Amino acid sequence: MDLLDTPLLNKGTAFTEEERTLFGLHGLLPPHVETLEEQVARAYEAYQLKDNDLERHICLRALQDNNEVLFYRLLLDHIDEMTPIVYTPTVALACQQFSHIYRRPRGIFVSYPHRNSIATLLRNRPNPNVDVIVVTDGERILGIGDQGAGGLGIPIGKLSLYTLIGGIRPERTLPIVLDVGTNNAQRLRDPEYIGWRHERIAGEDYFNFIDQFVQAVKQEFPETCLQWEDFANTHARPILERYSDQLLTFNDDIQGTAAVALGAILGAVSVIGKSIVEQQIVFLGAGSAATGVADELRAAMEDDGLSEAEARSRFWFVDSHGLIHSGRADLSAEKLSYAQPRDRVSKFATKTKDRIDLADVIANIDATILIGLSTVGGTFTEPIIREMARKVERPIIFPLSNPTSKSEAKAEDLIHWSDGRALVATGSPFGSVDYGGRKIPIAQCNNVYIFPAMGLGVVASRSRRVTDAMMLAAARALSANSPALRDASASLLPPLPDLRRVAAEIAVAVGLQAQKEGVAAMIPEEELRQRVKASQWMPDYPSYRDQG
Ligand code: NAI
Repeated sequence: MDLLDTPLLNKGTAFTEEERTLFGLHGLLPPHVETLEEQVARAYEAYQLKDNDLERHICLRALQDNNEVLFYRLLLDHIDEMTPIVYTPTVALACQQFSHIYRRPRGIFVSYPHRNSIATLLRNRPNPNVDVIVVTDGERILGIGDQGAGGLGIPIGKLSLYTLIGGIRPERTLPIVLDVGTNNAQRLRDPEYIGWRHERIAGEDYFNFIDQFVQAVKQEFPETCLQWEDFANTHARPILERYSDQLLTFNDDIQGTAAVALGAILGAVSVIGKSIVEQQIVFLGAGSAATGVADELRAAMEDDGLSEAEARSRFWFVDSHGLIHSGRADLSAEKLSYAQPRDRVSKFATKTKDRIDLADVIANIDATILIGLSTVGGTFTEPIIREMARKVERPIIFPLSNPTSKSEAKAEDLIHWSDGRALVATGSPFGSVDYGGRKIPIAQCNNVYIFPAMGLGVVASRSRRVTDAMMLAAARALSANSPALRDASASLLPPLPDLRRVAAEIAVAVGLQAQKEGVAAMIPEEELRQRVKASQWMPDYPSYRDQG
């Protein structure tokens, strides 16, 4: 019974006659021995009977808790259909309902009242060896805010993709939620809420708790990759800055997002036969997402030979008060570092006195790339796009705000307003666009293009740190795999069924960069390739034999 109850070992109806005899399973299972393929067909049939996405999510998670090989094989065979069910967007619903759909334990709850015994909690993990931990404190879950302990749904879903795409062995992944309370009144009022019923710990107490957690991780998992996920903006960056030099760690919201956007942009720039250093880049929105993407783009420009000042001069940021320039008195240090000199813009023709808005910027410069991270839907208007497209042959336009209602433009409109010439990638999913007898697929800048590959890269190369240059190497490797490079009417980013192969390519690039920077031992590229291949787990049943 233990075998049947252990999802990592259970084969269900696929246990062979020999195994059934060996482990005393006869009679406990129906007599017909099935193949994995037959099991997948039945599981898919059950999945299709569910009538909404949350039910489909619950169905898949129940399968994961019953038979992990079958779960991953089903996912792999239906990757396009099921990725949005195990991860975004459906996982948001699962986090909101976490206390109500909770069935079996998975992962570790590190609750604030247990702060003095975190190492003990971690020692209770189901498997001793862990390659990747995803940890959240549940405060800024996707677009739905504070979910308290229910945030654990995100690390669970995300680690499923580390395995599905990166090939990280499922028993070597560990989801963790730091349960520091919640300020979500609905959760606190819910009699079934499973988390610690307390308002969020804040300030010094919060950071001390994070430090206690990190020290325990260092002690228990000195070589494990620790990925931070969905922390509030005010916590995410200070945590990353404090610990990125101390352990193998990265923040996917900050670094992963920027690397995917950079990968798609580098792909687009290559499609038009240009280089990143030739671009004039306009951002609508200057919040944390926008400056994160800009920092990554700037790193790529500097890597290609520009000085920091030259690189910065190619960025034009527009926030809710207009163009960011040195004459403005309301700028934070971060925004000021991207401010255009006042002299450079003082002669701009503008519609309104004392304010340079997006349309003015597009009218006054030859922008080649336009990126939206403003949270305001519909702000890339027809006149703005037509003006941009009048001056450049292939405008690169990325409305990245989520969800769809906040997208700066609809993909279809961008294609039509630019007479089919724009290279478009979006934050939210958009269907293909029909234009001039062609079907133009629209790439979605989804973090899934980078994080599973980064996990695989650090595991295979046994890297000790995740550096900015490794992120840049990942973005470059992603761009080299852009389908649009081979077929002008293809998407800027690879399709999901090709992601395991692309992840392996990215992992090699990450490993080579880690060696270059001295954070991984030097080995020949061929050996690294072999290691990446060997590290990519496939959902197949092993055969169990009597070990005597
Ligand atoms: P934020 O609130 O920090 O920044 C928003 C920025 O937009 C601010 O600089 C604000 O001044 C500016 N803004 C607001 N209204 C404006 C207007 N009418 N015109 C010009 N600028 C305006 O938000 P954050 O965290 O930077 O996120 C921005 C958006 O990016 C969100 O919609 C988020 O969903 C999306 N995002 C998308 C990702 C992706 O991979 N596609 C990843 C991360 C964020």
